Amino acid sequence: MRDAGPRSLAMKTTEPGNQQSMNAGTTTRPAFDPSALKRQFPGLAEPDLHYLDNAATAQMPEVVLSALRRFEIEARANVHEGAHRRARAATAALGEARSRIARFLHAYSTEEVVFTYGTTSSINMLADSLGASLNPGDEILLSVLEHHSNLVPWQRLAARRGLVLRFLPITNDGRIDMDRLQSELTSRCRLVALTHCSNVTGAVTDVARVVAAARHVGARVLLDGAQRALHGPLDMRRLDVDFYAFSGHKTYGPTGIGVLWGRRELLEALPPFLTGGQMIEEVTLESATFRPPPRRFEAGTPPIAAAIGLGVALKWMGSLDWRAIRKHEIHLTRRLLDGLASTAGVRVVGPSDTRNRLGVVSFSVDAFSATEVCRHLDSHGVALRGGHHCAQPLIRALGLEGVARASLAPYSLDSDVDALLQGLDELVRAGGASSKRRSRMLVEKRYPACG
Ligand code: ALA
Repeated sequence: MRDAGPRSLAMKTTEPGNQQSMNAGTTTRPAFDPSALKRQFPGLAEPDLHYLDNAATAQMPEVVLSALRRFEIEARANVHEGAHRRARAATAALGEARSRIARFLHAYSTEEVVFTYGTTSSINMLADSLGASLNPGDEILLSVLEHHSNLVPWQRLAARRGLVLRFLPITNDGRIDMDRLQSELTSRCRLVALTHCSNVTGAVTDVARVVAAARHVGARVLLDGAQRALHGPLDMRRLDVDFYAFSGHKTYGPTGIGVLWGRRELLEALPPFLTGGQMIEEVTLESATFRPPPRRFEAGTPPIAAAIGLGVALKWMGSLDWRAIRKHEIHLTRRLLDGLASTAGVRVVGPSDTRNRLGVVSFSVDAFSATEVCRHLDSHGVALRGGHHCAQPLIRALGLEGVARASLAPYSLDSDVDALLQGLDELVRAGGASSKRRSRMLVEKRYPACG
């Protein structure tokens, strides 16, 4: 039987992207002040930095930075079997981090939280462990919208075990085409593995519809939550999926740490991925038996400090007013979408409204490559990311070579969006009447070393 789960489940979860639930109820908290929130981030103190690359890596608040420093000075030691004070302190801190993560996820139990090195390692681990029980002809359903980390591991598994990969296509506004669920989800499907929110278009997946359809054919559901997790606490019980993966560095925590959440009975049935120290019960020269989850999946010394930092980051997230933050992000997303729509030659890829989408906005600019756009905006202090965003099949399906992407976080301000729009306007005007050569000259003048 499952245990009762973490005791304090006080965090109210509102599914970002869902404006109706956001508007429900009232809050007695003081008005949300993004500038005050931003001051909690020493990494954002740099004057004239407009950090809009949060989908790649979000910044860390002081509370996380100081927790990392405190651990390294006061409790640095290896975990689990150590018989001294420091080892006990480190082990207790790691256990506390796992509990905090379980609370953030509204998991059924802390044993469902497996520490990994990031979303990519979570999905690779699942592909290997779950793959051991799949047979030739079994199917996995993905979408054209997936990040490579939720595509390539399944490609490799399919090649090894003779599986069939099927793909949901995308709609014109960059969402997964749910109308194709019926035809693509067959009785041979064993796993549906989809992004919770696209790292390119910002579209949020209709999870309830996916889960209902998957249950109908007896398939498991994995969500790649890398882009959704930074926008507020999650609720595994409400999502009702089987596995969930996300990264620490996108949730205001350190790099090198991530989580694979899985239903306990499913994790218990899976073999380990990596083997070695810390995950065994008994070893002879001929064989080994393994611990129950989560330690079965945590061979070797875990990223202890990073896990502790992630626990603090998620606790910090749990203290925020996510209804107010969601309103703020909708406001900024609308401002950005409107500004881009009124800039000549700009095409937004992804939904043009703010319903069921998060503040990840990608766009192309006539006559400029994504790299040129990003480099020009960097000269205005605007940090964007440009290219295929580890989603080459999607970018190809959109008929593009790359896109520039702005991604918001709760500490993003109107001035960040305005700096982007002003810089873009300057670039487009300098391009004149589609004078590609002149545009290139502007970029090259600013960045002579860039090819
Ligand atoms: N996967 C990260 C992104 O989408 C790096 O930006």
